[in-house]
Amino acid sequence: MKYLVANWKMNLPQKGVRDYCAALTSTSDPGVRTVLAPPFPFLVETRDESVRLRLHVDIGAQNCSEHADGAHTGEVSPEMLAGAGCTFVIVGHSERRAHEGETDPRVNRKAAAAAMRGLIPIICVGEDQSVRESGETRGKIHQQVEAAWSEALDAAPEVLVAYEPLWAIGTGVHATPDLIAEAGSWISEAIEQSWGGKASTKTKIIYGGSVSPENAAELSEVGNVSGFLVGGASLEAEKLLKIHKAMAPRH
Ligand code: PGA
Repeated sequence: MKYLVANWKMNLPQKGVRDYCAALTSTSDPGVRTVLAPPFPFLVETRDESVRLRLHVDIGAQNCSEHADGAHTGEVSPEMLAGAGCTFVIVGHSERRAHEGETDPRVNRKAAAAAMRGLIPIICVGEDQSVRESGETRGKIHQQVEAAWSEALDAAPEVLVAYEPLWAIGTGVHATPDLIAEAGSWISEAIEQSWGGKASTKTKIIYGGSVSPENAAELSEVGNVSGFLVGGASLEAEKLLKIHKAMAPRH
């Protein structure tokens, strides 16, 4: 199974949710699981449209609270996300790590809270330019993967780890297949060493960072990576469809 996650970030598709969903009626390849991750207020509309149009898509959130309920103004619990139709939730996106104080321990607690509610956490890891230049990428990836582990992950139906090098996000410069494969092997190695148990066998690795219709076929060839987390290009349904097609196994 491959995964294609459309991370709209704090944006909406130009033509609106309805037209966007209407354009996705041909995403029926059963080998690619497509996840639409709109901002919170548009989760229900996206869910309703996808049900109405019988789209083969999942709904995902871009963040969740580590808490189940209580006095946490502005937060949204995994339970609420599940109620809004979500089956996936992104945790620890680098934009949240950089701007919203998302530390490794918080990412750990959020992934655990999501898993306990039966959501599939998409745990983002990746190095910035200076870490890459100083040759510390492997250590950084190991640290982030290890820190995300908790036994609670065993409760999740699946787990995705997204390799998202910061220098490739929103820059138009994607990581090369060789770099993605290398990072993928470091992630697998870190999971094997520090996760153990059931979670490691049901974890898949995906790549994010300037994925586009132009590079999706080439990047799909990377053996140890099972799909993409797409930001900018996912805002246009036509581009998402092209990426989806490029990912389909060749016959
Ligand atoms: P991008 O974003 O595809 O625009 O580089 C990826 C992401 O951050 O999810």
